[in-house]
Amino acid sequence: MEKLVIAIDGYSSCGKSTVAKAVARRLGLPYVDSGAMYRAVTLYFLNNEIPIPQNDKSEYNYKKHLGDIDIQFEINPNNGISEIVLNGKNVESEIRKMRVSKSVSQFSTLPSVRKMLVEIQRNMGAKQGLVMDGRDIGTVVFPNADLKFFMTASGEVRAKRRYEELMARGLEITMDEVQTNLNYRDYQDSHREISPLKQAEDAIVLDNSAMNQDEQLDFVMKYVEQWRKNVST
Ligand code: DC
Repeated sequence: MEKLVIAIDGYSSCGKSTVAKAVARRLGLPYVDSGAMYRAVTLYFLNNEIPIPQNDKSEYNYKKHLGDIDIQFEINPNNGISEIVLNGKNVESEIRKMRVSKSVSQFSTLPSVRKMLVEIQRNMGAKQGLVMDGRDIGTVVFPNADLKFFMTASGEVRAKRRYEELMARGLEITMDEVQTNLNYRDYQDSHREISPLKQAEDAIVLDNSAMNQDEQLDFVMKYVEQWRKNVST
């Protein structure tokens, strides 16, 4: 297996995870959904009635709870894709619910949470190559990633995709709710003080508004081939 680290960042519901999974499968590399980790921490906080931070200067001591949070990924034998396990329970579906989506951006501003998750993410990349998607993967987690992509798509396309994804999971939601949540998270994620979402200088932009999944995979694989040529010369 190649020790190739690919970072895929971008706005909410751009289709990052779909591309990342397809690329990982093609290359035989693990796929890591860093957003799922922020969602799992959020789920833990919500389940334990820990207050939602109203800004990143919150006085509440969130740090004291972090030792009680164990996050792992396990491969689902039905689809071969890694799913997130919080304190021994598979929460892959639960973390996608609106209850979590509504406050994940706020919990993601907490320095202690980011520090803990970035450390876990870097350890995963130290062992082997991987494909990881998120908001700060190319800028903070793996600033020396072999390949970095920054994904974007029109607001309309993104809202429609997220809506269809949630409907497919059987969650009751309106298009309006989806749109409002996307706008809110994009704003929060790109304006927070620590590790805001931004395009790394050396990232390749992938606007997939008008691309199907095969075209997106081909787009990324073209750069993988180029990377292979560069490392072999
Ligand atoms: O990828 P996602 O939409 O499931 O991510 C959920 C939230 O987690 C996102 O709104 C912001 C936060 N996040 C983050 O702050 N940093 C990351 N690397 C990934 C996600």
